Amino acid sequence: MNPGRSEPVRCHGEGHLTHDIDLVRFSLTVGDAELQLLQSILSEDEAARARRFLQQGHGDRFVAARGRLRQILGGYAGCEPAAVAFDSAAHGKPALRTAAGSREPVHFNLTHSGDVAAVALCRSAEVGIDIERIRPVREGLARRYFAAEEVAGLDALEVAQRLPAFFRCWTRKEAFLKATGEGIRRGLDSFVVTVGADEDPSIVSIDGDRAAGKAYVLADFDAGPGTAGAVCVHAGADRNRVAFKVRDFG
Ligand SMILES: CC(C)(COP(=O)(O)OP(=O)(O)OC[C@H]1O[C@@H](n2cnc3c(N)ncnc32)[C@H](O)[C@@H]1OP(=O)(O)O)[C@@H](O)C(=O)NCCC(=O)NCCS
Repeated sequence: MNPGRSEPVRCHGEGHLTHDIDLVRFSLTVGDAELQLLQSILSEDEAARARRFLQQGHGDRFVAARGRLRQILGGYAGCEPAAVAFDSAAHGKPALRTAAGSREPVHFNLTHSGDVAAVALCRSAEVGIDIERIRPVREGLARRYFAAEEVAGLDALEVAQRLPAFFRCWTRKEAFLKATGEGIRRGLDSFVVTVGADEDPSIVSIDGDRAAGKAYVLADFDAGPGTAGAVCVHAGADRNRVAFKVRDFG
């Protein structure tokens, strides 16, 4: 886990909010009985979406991801998993629908890649999370989509380091895009993240503005062998008061 490198950290400044971010990792491969249970807590819309997948394996993974998300959010919101209700925020980012007058919202974001998934949750700030399986990519992909500064950073690495660094860059970028909710419509080259193995994860600049990047805190996390994982929080002025905790579901 980063910032820092591999362990959760808690940093305290003076007189500001502390953003506590929980990361819950889980597998999307579940037994039949568990799958049925998860299926039973989905909404009608979700069940219909699961049925639309052409491959059963994809539909089952969707059921597992949504079911687990409901179980996790139910725990945070203090309600039954089946009673969790979603709204769609700007640009389609799913948000928890909270009862009128309820005290604290729970911001969350879900990611899944193959068999692995994770949810980031925070009561005080928007979060975004991404996991990618590290796999061969087409020559020139970074040059086509990433910012020039990131491409230069990747080119400066030893050849053997470039693929993991590419996915480090990708997940950091996507975690930021998912924190803002904008997705790729923002333009992948409109902001710059660090890419070097020895650099702390951070947003270097947004639309050329280096100060704007400081409102976000980025961290890498261990999403399992052969994967890259990153999480991003909109910490505002409280970037030195962000604490990450990682756990596995159950
Ligand atoms: C949703 C999106 C933001 C991320 O998709 P993804 O990386 O393919 O998938 P992930 O598993 O990480 O995230 C999917 C989840 O994000 C959530 N999500 C959907 N829209 C979102 C948005 N606008 N912002 C944040 N989260 C969103 C949903 O919970 C979704 O789960 P679901 O598929 O079960 O509905 C997608 O719209 C997107 O922009 N993809 C970019 C793909 C790409 O080319 N990335 C290159 C990065 S360098």
